[in-house]
Amino acid sequence: MEEHDFPKKGEKAFERFYSAVWGQRWPLLREALLQESAPQGMGEGVLLQPYYLDTASRLAAELLPVSPGDKVLDLCAAPGGKTLILAQKLKGEGTLVSNELSSARRERLKRVLRDHLPDLWQKAVSVTGKDATRWGLYQKEIYDAVLLDAPCSSERHVLHSPKHLNLWSPHRTKTLAQQAVALLCSALETVKTGGYVLYATCSISPEENQGALEKFRKKRPGRWAEVPLSQAIGERQSWGYLILPDTHQGQGPLFFCLWQKLAP
Ligand SMILES: C[S@@+](CC[C@H](N)C(=O)[O-])C[C@H]1O[C@@H](n2cnc3c(N)ncnc32)[C@H](O)[C@@H]1O
Repeated sequence: MEEHDFPKKGEKAFERFYSAVWGQRWPLLREALLQESAPQGMGEGVLLQPYYLDTASRLAAELLPVSPGDKVLDLCAAPGGKTLILAQKLKGEGTLVSNELSSARRERLKRVLRDHLPDLWQKAVSVTGKDATRWGLYQKEIYDAVLLDAPCSSERHVLHSPKHLNLWSPHRTKTLAQQAVALLCSALETVKTGGYVLYATCSISPEENQGALEKFRKKRPGRWAEVPLSQAIGERQSWGYLILPDTHQGQGPLFFCLWQKLAP
């Protein structure tokens, strides 16, 4: 088959792209992605009711250093699982701004906060609806900690949805990776010097994970450094770590990298 005969869109293009990325691992990884995920309840006895979240997402969000009294920003917050973890760390002291661009998803985020957070803790949380890529233009050096859980390819979701699989093209991961770099630059501006940013995606596309961080390093050299983990979680990448369902009891995919803003 000639190169120009290969489909550019849809399931065949998806298969070709990810089998080239993952090689011999792809069939097993694909199989694991096709299994239903089994989110675990969190916050029993602390939240008003348990919230069900993938264990890999919980582990990653817990890595962001947040203490009561801190100023915290969640740039892409809906539906809100990771925001609940940040709110639990604040214990109602300090501030958490939970931002979400989509109005429908923002409504869902508000519902999640209302249904899970005790009143005293809700007072510390405010919900906004800005474009996170532009956040750093307006608020500079403000936050002690920022969560950037970027919009991503969500291949697990795509594989479960014939509609999304039919629409898939390699262009999607490139566009999302570019957006991720803009979001990383925005997070860099808004976090305080010495403050922390946790970058996360649920993608298995290296371009959106370590690839986006490498582009960010080139754009903003010397302005940030990855924070080494005391204990490795998942598989080490050139930047950050990746938790994949074929090797982590069905949890993930979840890529994350904790970094700190350096003094100029
Ligand atoms: C991976 S999801 C976040 C999941 C969330 N952190 C959680 O744990 O429940 C990414 C979110 O970013 C939102 N989003 C996409 N582009 C955005 C932008 N430019 N600014 C703010 N939010 C955006 C999407 O609507 C989506 O809800």
